[in-house]
Amino acid sequence: MSNPPVPAPPSAAGTWWSDAVVYQIYPRSFADGDGDGMGDLRGVLDRLPYLEQLGVDAIWLSPFYKSPQADGGYDVADYRQVDPLFGSLADFDAMLQDAHRRGMKVIVDLVPNHTSDEHAWFQAALAAAPGSPERGRYIFREGRDEAPGSGDGNRPPNNWKSVFGGPAWTRVSEQDGSPGQWYLHLFDTKQPDLNWENAEVQEEMRAVLRFWLDRGADGFRVDVAHGLVKEAGLPDWEGVAAMVEGTSRPRTDSHLPGEAPGAHTDAEEPHRSVSPMYPPSPFFDQDGVHDIYRDWRRVLDEYGGDRMMVAEAWVEPAERLARYVRPDEMQQAFNFDFLLAGWDAERMAEAIEASLAAAESVGAPCTWVLSNHDTVRHATRFGLKDPTTFPKGIAEFDEQPDAALGLARARAATLVALALPGSAYLYQGEELGLPEHTTLPAEARQDPTFFRTRGAEIGRDGCRVPLPWEENQPGFGFSATHGGAAARPWLPQPESFGPLAADQQDGEEGSTLELYRAALRFRSVRRLGQGTVEWTDEHAPDSGLLAFRNGDVLVVANMGFASAPVPEGFKVVLSSGPEPAEDWAGMQEVPVDSTVYLQRG
Ligand code: BGC
Repeated sequence: MSNPPVPAPPSAAGTWWSDAVVYQIYPRSFADGDGDGMGDLRGVLDRLPYLEQLGVDAIWLSPFYKSPQADGGYDVADYRQVDPLFGSLADFDAMLQDAHRRGMKVIVDLVPNHTSDEHAWFQAALAAAPGSPERGRYIFREGRDEAPGSGDGNRPPNNWKSVFGGPAWTRVSEQDGSPGQWYLHLFDTKQPDLNWENAEVQEEMRAVLRFWLDRGADGFRVDVAHGLVKEAGLPDWEGVAAMVEGTSRPRTDSHLPGEAPGAHTDAEEPHRSVSPMYPPSPFFDQDGVHDIYRDWRRVLDEYGGDRMMVAEAWVEPAERLARYVRPDEMQQAFNFDFLLAGWDAERMAEAIEASLAAAESVGAPCTWVLSNHDTVRHATRFGLKDPTTFPKGIAEFDEQPDAALGLARARAATLVALALPGSAYLYQGEELGLPEHTTLPAEARQDPTFFRTRGAEIGRDGCRVPLPWEENQPGFGFSATHGGAAARPWLPQPESFGPLAADQQDGEEGSTLELYRAALRFRSVRRLGQGTVEWTDEHAPDSGLLAFRNGDVLVVANMGFASAPVPEGFKVVLSSGPEPAEDWAGMQEVPVDSTVYLQRG
């Protein structure tokens, strides 16, 4: 950790993203520059030196656009404005300029599947008549009759459920106050789906791409990339909409703020988290989405060829995902199979292999991701009895993680991810080893999922808690005070965040922050992102050992139950465990729940 940073040789022109380490910023919770308890772009600017020192190549900002914030900004009211909560376009420009000056690229989030219901287009659609061009930009339909022939249109046009729980249709009142048409929203009622067959919608999104490309954005993270096109005729579907595979269960003990536990016996049936592919659904992964990405690719290519797009597409199997990164579509897609593999050598090896093979089949690089703003943080997931389960949030009455075990495995899994070829995505705070907030009070919760399922799904607030920067400051230094009193962070932070604050880990041998810095430096100097995976003799998933070679670096992760010997002739050069760096070279064993990088010598 005493090695000075060594700049990596530049990647081939135009393909910086192929091996980039991208740091996801959830702007509400990263850093608060104006002191109102809500993160903002000024806060991002102030902390760019921290990110530069961490050694990331790019930042991806979750939405900061004008929005009523019904879904943390994924409900966009104006694609060309910064919400005053986060600052102004000038703040964006200043932040981007400084990031570029420090050698970091900037990726912005594009939310093309839906707008906010407060977007001017949707307001115009409400004011216009059925069949009007204004309604044609969204998916409005007549309802089905309660009793055949009654003409009341009282039932939604089909049986689709929202990903956030409850029906995917809401009925509007027409101008004369009579019950009117229904509109589709795969997510919250306040997120009406756009009609991607509409030429105006297509043209507008091209213009939005150009708006941000002209401002200097280096790329886009494309939200719900698999959802834009719906099957013709919008047929009923017997499956359940969900973004991820995994478990969730009805909670008899959950309740909304102000209600007694168990108050809802008639709660909306929670959506079970099942794979969207079984059976294939009429609203996800339709072939038509690819025409849209080919079209966008042509727009990006007008800008000199090094701008990029990364798809958020929860599709299976890996071959379906690879279709999003064919040579004339996007450059990258998040690889969620790896995230879902748990602390299981066999499953992780399979996910690595399948992902590499699928990506290679279309000539695209892989991506590796362990946490994001929609998933339980990996330092917590790995501390659950079964880390392959995929809870949508954790509450105080759920199984609580083993924090120490979770952190040890999270550090180890991160070293695996960072040694793999391709690009790695980090989620803010994972470099501090932050856990999920698993005891947030119901009163504090904001995720629409929680409300739409009447608490049956706890939701994603626990991974969105404001970051701790300084242990001994109010709000752990999240908000700048400008000489005044510190505002309360928009979500309460758990006590456990204090010792994990950045200032406590900076320069501390063995801290998670220093481990990330060292691993990113190592990855960059050894060009691991541009390497290959070669399974070695030590690879024994049956006994919990995952082992591969990338160039002259041997990576061994021990997910088993007993220490494994360090292979003859190798010495440890980086370890996820607590051993001090000066002991690495003498290590004879790879302890359980750890990963080591080895080299000959
Ligand atoms: C985003 C979520 C968001 C949803 C709807 C996603 O996949 O990552 O945070 O709630 O899309 O926009």
